[in-house]
Amino acid sequence: MISAEKNDLMTRVGHDTPAGKLLRRYWQPVALAEELNGPRPLKPVKLMGQDFVLFRDAEGRLGLLDRDCPHRGADLAFGRLESGGLRCAFHGWLFDATGQCLETPAEPAGSKLCTRIRQSAYPVVEKSGVVFAYIGEGEPPAFPDFDCFVAPDSHTFAFKGLWECNWLQALEVGIDPAHASFLHRFFQDEDTSESYGKQFRGASADSEMAITQVLREYDCPDISVAPAPYGMQLTTLRKLSEEQTHVRVTNVVFPQTFVIPMSSEMTISQWHVPVDDTHCYWYAIFTSFTGPVDKQQMRDQRLGTIELPEYTSRKNKRNNYGYSVEEQLNQTYTGMGTDINVHDQWACESMGPIQNRTREHLGTTDKGIVAYRRMLLDAIDSTMAGDAAPMRPDAAQASTLTGPPSIDGVASAAKVASYCRDADLARRQGSDWARARLAD
Ligand code: FES
Ligand SMILES: [Fe+2]
Repeated sequence: MISAEKNDLMTRVGHDTPAGKLLRRYWQPVALAEELNGPRPLKPVKLMGQDFVLFRDAEGRLGLLDRDCPHRGADLAFGRLESGGLRCAFHGWLFDATGQCLETPAEPAGSKLCTRIRQSAYPVVEKSGVVFAYIGEGEPPAFPDFDCFVAPDSHTFAFKGLWECNWLQALEVGIDPAHASFLHRFFQDEDTSESYGKQFRGASADSEMAITQVLREYDCPDISVAPAPYGMQLTTLRKLSEEQTHVRVTNVVFPQTFVIPMSSEMTISQWHVPVDDTHCYWYAIFTSFTGPVDKQQMRDQRLGTIELPEYTSRKNKRNNYGYSVEEQLNQTYTGMGTDINVHDQWACESMGPIQNRTREHLGTTDKGIVAYRRMLLDAIDSTMAGDAAPMRPDAAQASTLTGPPSIDGVASAAKVASYCRDADLARRQGSDWARARLAD
């Protein structure tokens, strides 16, 4: 339980708020690269309550500009992509991807006005199918050599979805390992060979056991949390027998990303990005250590519940998330279908637009959440005191940040302590692209 003041301090991310200032010191996903496909590569985006327009110019450069035209404030998202930039539809002022005004065509011949006009523009880069932007002060940090950024394009797939709640409660579900035994419980196990592209539906590594069976039958995990150079690492143990223990290792990359195993072949790196205080997008990069990702299948699976163009969920509070009494009695814990993203979405959205944490009562299994909030509050404090925000690597530091190991498997009793390291190494040695990097 925390005070209302502290809850506000952690959750509110407007331009002048302490958490907003902190989160602006990190690269934030603003769009999927696929959103800029088509005849007009332009997309209005909202990030932490600020409005921008994202576009790709004729040379393929990405630009992210404030959305209100610096002439008289018209909406640049309705502008024309032409003459190498973005032209406002009101009086034709033209801006390049750096925000420099290039033309003010209605001004008298010889006018130099445009040389003095520059729209605010922000660094923007594309990584593994996600467009990242930096809207904070000073220089952005470097991108770490994490698997999701260094794997070849053929081995990653990116997608996103909108949740109608504050970003922090969305992130916190990803650092709460106990919930998977309940929220994502299936009363029958599926054939695990049908699990491609789905989370919590395959078999754990080094085991024939369906993960659904592990989660269902062993619901009182032993969770430990350790600091890591990029944030923190959670290890969740479920003792299956005297001989075997299920080991699941997940990570928080500070401030808003978790990196978790999806299957023995894939990991998920997932950002929870505030649109404003009461909406957030999850952005996920799925990274395959075996063959290329079947992007079409992954996309089609997700389009079953997510609706374009805004990547909203077809199941939501307006239709009770598809809740079925019959299903809840016989098939799933929630009665909300088999897509676990919908379960997580319900859990987070049902807390309200911003969870009232003055009414919560944390338990032992919430230790990841407690550790994360401490890290967040410390970072807010130090940023407010004028110190550097944590975990903003320079290029040299970024090249030392690899992995992070994200493992789900069954270890023999004697090997529990070394299982994560060993399984991570074995997976890399069996992966063409990851093995090449081990040799570096
Ligand atoms: S308001 Fe954009 S050109 Fe006039
Ligand atoms: Fe979940």
